[in-house]
Amino acid sequence: MKVVSNTAISLDGRINTRERRFAFFGSDRDHARMSRLRADADAVLVGGATFRNWPHPALPDAVDRARLRGRPWNAVVSRSLDLPLEADWFAEPAIRPLLLTRAASLEGRRLPAEAEGWPGEGDDLPVPWILEQLARRGVERLLVEAGGDLLFQFLAADAIDEMYLTLCPLVVGGDAPSLADGAGFDLAELRRMRLVAAEPEGDEVFLRYEALRQGATR
Ligand SMILES: NC(=O)c1ccc[n+]([C@@H]2O[C@H](COP(=O)([O-])OP(=O)(O)OC[C@H]3O[C@@H](n4cnc5c(N)ncnc54)[C@H](OP(=O)(O)O)[C@@H]3O)[C@@H](O)[C@H]2O)c1
Repeated sequence: MKVVSNTAISLDGRINTRERRFAFFGSDRDHARMSRLRADADAVLVGGATFRNWPHPALPDAVDRARLRGRPWNAVVSRSLDLPLEADWFAEPAIRPLLLTRAASLEGRRLPAEAEGWPGEGDDLPVPWILEQLARRGVERLLVEAGGDLLFQFLAADAIDEMYLTLCPLVVGGDAPSLADGAGFDLAELRRMRLVAAEPEGDEVFLRYEALRQGATR
């Protein structure tokens, strides 16, 4: 499975403000690029926090829909399953909604969408298990639109092939979520990338990086 991520970041690497309310950092051009990436994906994956902020279908714009290879999966990864179950996401016929959570969170719940429960120990679904659930459903190209919590785990698992970044002309500062949060990497573990494309347009720069496998230097 090919796994790509797409994130709009401020100049200081933040993906939202400290208020953590829904905010779109990018321009219309960034939106158009997001739409094309969605059209090329079999599934779009977010974490619970990102979903709570914007609980709507992740679909390409109408102009890009013809590129879709079928009805895309929209997957949400959640420990708590504390999600707005009345959201239009659950009823949208153009997507296949999927909830991935702990098996314990599913007990006694009736959900308006297909759900899969991680039966193992601990609160965190392992990234390989998440990928396995998607692969079993025929996903060959996954777009990760998660925040820094889940994206860090994908990077830590060496599960990202390419990162699309839009560098936005903003500075956020303070206690705001960033591209990769989590426990962080020590110097010896830093994830390294190779620049594939850098395209300035207006005040933004559209970046595409290929992730180097852990231990590789170039
Ligand atoms: N600028 C951008 O392009 C961009 C992109 C994405 C998000 N954002 C913003 O970033 C902020 C969210 O950041 P975030 O890092 O908290 O988002 P996130 O990674 O998408 O969501 C975090 C949540 O995902 C679930 N989760 C993470 N790892 C898990 C695991 N291993 N097993 C089970 N569940 C797991 C948990 O959900 P539960 O809490 O439900 O248990 C956790 O609270 C929001 O403000 C959002 O709007 C911006």
